[in-house]
Amino acid sequence: MQGISYLKFFLNISFTLCIICNGCKTEEPYKQSEGGKVIKREVDMSWWNDARYGMFIHYGIYSVLGGEYIGKNVEGMPIHFQSVGRNNSQSDSVKIGAGAGAEWILYEASIPRESYRKYASSFTAEKYDPQAIVDLALSAGMKYIIITTKHHDGFCLWDSDVTDWDISHTPAGIRWNHDLIAPLAEATRNAGLKFGIYFSHTRDWMYPGGIGPIPELQMKEYSYIENQSYMETYTYPMVTELLNRYHPDIFWWDSNNPYEEFAIRCNSLVINSSPTIIQNNRISTLPLYQGDFATPEQAMDENEEYENMELCMTMNDSWGYNQFDNGWKRPEYILWCLLRANKLGGNLLLNVGPRSDGTIPEECQTTLKIVGQWININSDGIYETQKSPLRFNLPYGPATWRKKNGIQHLYYHIFYWDGSGELWIPGIMNAPDEVALSFPANPQISFQVKAVEGIGLHITNLPQTKFSDMCTMLDIKFSNEPKLKEGIRDINNIIRLDALGAQIGHVAIDDFETKPCINWYSGRQINYKILITRNGTYKISALLAGFYPGKITFDFGNKLTLIGNNRTTSGHDNFEWQNMGNIYLKQGEYILSITADQIDLWLKVREFKMERQ
Ligand code: GLC
Repeated sequence: MQGISYLKFFLNISFTLCIICNGCKTEEPYKQSEGGKVIKREVDMSWWNDARYGMFIHYGIYSVLGGEYIGKNVEGMPIHFQSVGRNNSQSDSVKIGAGAGAEWILYEASIPRESYRKYASSFTAEKYDPQAIVDLALSAGMKYIIITTKHHDGFCLWDSDVTDWDISHTPAGIRWNHDLIAPLAEATRNAGLKFGIYFSHTRDWMYPGGIGPIPELQMKEYSYIENQSYMETYTYPMVTELLNRYHPDIFWWDSNNPYEEFAIRCNSLVINSSPTIIQNNRISTLPLYQGDFATPEQAMDENEEYENMELCMTMNDSWGYNQFDNGWKRPEYILWCLLRANKLGGNLLLNVGPRSDGTIPEECQTTLKIVGQWININSDGIYETQKSPLRFNLPYGPATWRKKNGIQHLYYHIFYWDGSGELWIPGIMNAPDEVALSFPANPQISFQVKAVEGIGLHITNLPQTKFSDMCTMLDIKFSNEPKLKEGIRDINNIIRLDALGAQIGHVAIDDFETKPCINWYSGRQINYKILITRNGTYKISALLAGFYPGKITFDFGNKLTLIGNNRTTSGHDNFEWQNMGNIYLKQGEYILSITADQIDLWLKVREFKMERQ
């Protein structure tokens, strides 16, 4: 009780202060309509919407530790900690992180602040090369760069007037004129790219008052009043420094603040500094301050209608450099994620975590360049694309959308070329003016395209092998309004639901190099939109591989559910068609949700099939 009235008291005080203090009197950036709906500030998002692909950089003191800490924790106990890894034996004393990235090591290993601070003397950035980073972003096809100026460990990559816990107190600072941000901002802009700033304004394990939980406080939090003092002492002055020094195009807040007055203040600082800065939505936990774009992390919900969205994703499993993390994502997977984000009218912000010397791991560089080469040839299918009218993925991959010079283009990205020489593109109900294979532009190839009543396009005489190791793009052009219908899957009485045609959310896709499959974890859901054109009983089967038996649930909505049993196939390499059972479905549109419940948690599925009996 006491706690609550205490909090209210301070909220009132600060409200009164804001009214009487002219210095912080600002135009209210967001207004609430009478119905309680949020009215958003109008900001020009056009460059951001055209860009579609950017680079995220996580660089800081955690890069020195690279995912490993050997020392004492806050309780004074000796600890050997690794952010990712594997115990070698039962007696192995290495403690493995709970899944956060290596930039969370201070928290995860409960490192005392004083011990962590000592790593600043090893932060050299001796091979930090902003131009090389920008060149890499350019060869990757990226249009903007966002760097962590201060992450949750509180360390500033610029020379801040309000703290010594910054770059100027490291060997890197001496080498780089007390600033790692300025040369990167300059190189980025000189290359014609946009520059953004990531700033953790709320979560901060280093300074008193930052929101945690805080290892130094036995994982407790500071009080509201302490947080207020933290915001006044550090956050507002630092944000002001960043805005005045670097004039960012994007301000990327991290870790939402729970108190409205702080959110208002942060928001106002950015908006009053320039009307053109685009902000993300992690400013506040309150719905009123949602910024200009949503930031799903690592995976997005493809079923959601986003207004503006940027999927941020790591190339392995960590944001900060982690010497133990070799779980690098394949270039095909990254391209597939980019195109699915673009399909929803969104961007991909792909992360690199430089080593403490400033170099970017070779695996990242190679993958970025491979994806970049593809983008360079197929750029029309990415930049300036808008929300695709085909929101659900088509068989074999997503379709992006763009209007250009009066022509509407549907770019269909085919990640798996099945060798049959024919291809169905269900849902395109009228003949396009032209279909071009954009990869590579090869005049010798002539194929036939036919619009088949009630199904979609049927393309025949195609080459049997795919052109690119990555994916083949079809540019389907319409000078008039195309007729599109989502959910059509029925071709010759068989509804085929392949891995790449699913809305997958947090589910992984594997085996891109051969035949892509869903690598499925118990409980996780995948979705398909399905149009049933005739009432009838449908037999469902699945092409799957797994070590143990389990259950697969097919939920068609309205309590229409089929639960199938899958048997072991003695491993993840032996794919086998298995019968899941029959279900009666009436004509209509369905969103089919499929979940797996497996004894060993993992199951691989290449395809589902629904056959009308
Ligand atoms: C989360 C994590 C952080 C990472 C960020 C990127 O907020 O705390 O480590 O910087 O997401 O989106």
